[in-house]
Amino acid sequence: MSTSVSPTLEHEHRLIDAGIIDFADADPRAVNPTALLEAIAVLRRHIYLEEEYLFPPLRAAGLVGPIMVMVREHGLMWPLLDRIEQAAAAGDTGTAGQLCRDLLEQLNSHNMKEERILYPQADALPPGDLDELAGLLSTAELPAGWVCGGVAVD
Ligand SMILES: [Fe+2]
Ligand SMILES: [Fe+2]
Repeated sequence: MSTSVSPTLEHEHRLIDAGIIDFADADPRAVNPTALLEAIAVLRRHIYLEEEYLFPPLRAAGLVGPIMVMVREHGLMWPLLDRIEQAAAAGDTGTAGQLCRDLLEQLNSHNMKEERILYPQADALPPGDLDELAGLLSTAELPAGWVCGGVAVD
């Protein structure tokens, strides 16, 4: 058994969803984007930790295809996060709300796959494989300029 990181990662899924749902469900004329922007920042950090610290040992354990799919899905979400932040910064809460609903659809199927397939496999990795991630979960900050691996480069 490796250090169990899945309860914390699943808890982050719930927290992130809640922040985005609250914004998407609110009256766009009266909503405050602060909590949404916090949820987006937590999601970016979550994606960073998965790609840098969770996926490499899973890939080494043979889960090449599922990891490829997850990275591709992160790459679809990442530009959506930029657009949500831009719309919120511009005070366009209607557009931000619609983009949030698009993001929630993507997160719904993405998180389900992680929680059913990847996280249980992570918990079954050899002892020590995820110690670094376990230590970083409460402390890591997204490095400036970090972009997830699945973003299409043109
Ligand atoms: Fe993910
Ligand atoms: Fe995740």
